Amino acid sequence: MTSHAHSFAPLTIRGRSLLPIVQGGMGVGISAHRLAGSVAREGAVGTIASIDLRHHHEDLLAMCREDHTRPTLERANLIALAREIKAARELSQGRGMIAVNVMKAVSAHADYVRVACDEGANAIVMGAGLPLDLPDLTAGCDIALIPILSDSRGVTLVLKKWMKKGRLPDAIVIEHPAHAGGHLGVGDVADMHDERFGFERVLTELDASFAALGLKREDVPVIVAGGINSHEAVRKWLAAGANGVQIGTPFAVTEEGDAHPEFKRVLVEATPDDIVEFVSVTGLPARAVKTPWLMRYLRNEERIRTKIGARKQTCPSALECLSACGLRDGIEKFGHFCIDTRLAAALRGDVGNGLFFRGREKLPFGAAIRSVRDLIELLLTGATKAAPASC
Ligand SMILES: Cc1cc2nc3c(=O)[nH]c(=O)nc-3n(C[C@H](O)[C@H](O)[C@H](O)COP(=O)(O)O)c2cc1C
Repeated sequence: MTSHAHSFAPLTIRGRSLLPIVQGGMGVGISAHRLAGSVAREGAVGTIASIDLRHHHEDLLAMCREDHTRPTLERANLIALAREIKAARELSQGRGMIAVNVMKAVSAHADYVRVACDEGANAIVMGAGLPLDLPDLTAGCDIALIPILSDSRGVTLVLKKWMKKGRLPDAIVIEHPAHAGGHLGVGDVADMHDERFGFERVLTELDASFAALGLKREDVPVIVAGGINSHEAVRKWLAAGANGVQIGTPFAVTEEGDAHPEFKRVLVEATPDDIVEFVSVTGLPARAVKTPWLMRYLRNEERIRTKIGARKQTCPSALECLSACGLRDGIEKFGHFCIDTRLAAALRGDVGNGLFFRGREKLPFGAAIRSVRDLIELLLTGATKAAPASC
């Protein structure tokens, strides 16, 4: 572990003193044990994305091929999550924090939460839906609970509901839909630049919301996410009142990132014109790189929607991963493709068929693939060590 000489106050979550850097959860399999464990080893928060981790385990994939039914696929995913948490904890050597990201929109979300608790993860970070039931799902378990929201109204709603249950979030992530990668916390693509999502505005509004609820701002650390890609940006948002920053895309493309090298190449080589927002099968807008499959889909989106949009389909992966899926449930205004198949293809580096989620902004090291340690060093101090000679 490097000492990361920097001048920022620590991020304190449930009594743990951490570097003010959170690696965002990235599914399917993009942030598994290697990335999360490496980030935690540096003293920061490393996050395993819980969704569909069986793709990292050849024996579990073989089990699923033999019996391609939903119960077997779900069992494989729970075994995979338990293995990934265990491996990340070992890699972290007890430093930092291992979080598990669970999306509320995923049908198995309660099972993923249970495995995170059973396997000794330090935190659950829940987004893609309001995590109103999270305190009940984790009753009796000593684990930090961190909702992901996008505006102060959402935060106030969660605080009010949780306070009735006698629980406060241990931190809150505020994710900006105009910058972040993956699914975006906004009803409509056209809405993502709305001023209510501006970090400055949210931080100011939260002061008032906290006071109205009789809370002190320091009771709940606030972590901002989306487009933070430099030391200057880290400094700016921590000075503006955030307690930490969550970073996704720059961690996905580190040496330790769990995806195939081709996945990382697609992300680092994407220019601003190559990045697009579209409606996902979850009904939420999402941001990704215009790779061949996505361009084909978007060209035909209107036609697909008119032709089969309202028709229910059999789930092609048999996993039934989402509680509400545009393709399976025939929800016309949602997307119509199998997100699990597409994200798993991207993880394998299948450029022709995969869906490659990415944030909007430039990457801190341009097209270079560097280590987690170099990235954290750059974010905290602005210092860039010379890249090791390429082999
Ligand atoms: C490839 C990729 C996959 C993602 N998957 C998830 C996910 O499964 N759950 C989630 O809550 N956020 C997900 N995100 C969002 C990130 O955790 C993070 O908050 C966001 O990307 C921050 O913006 P940045 O990429 O500009 O740093 C994903 C982002 C990317 C780039």
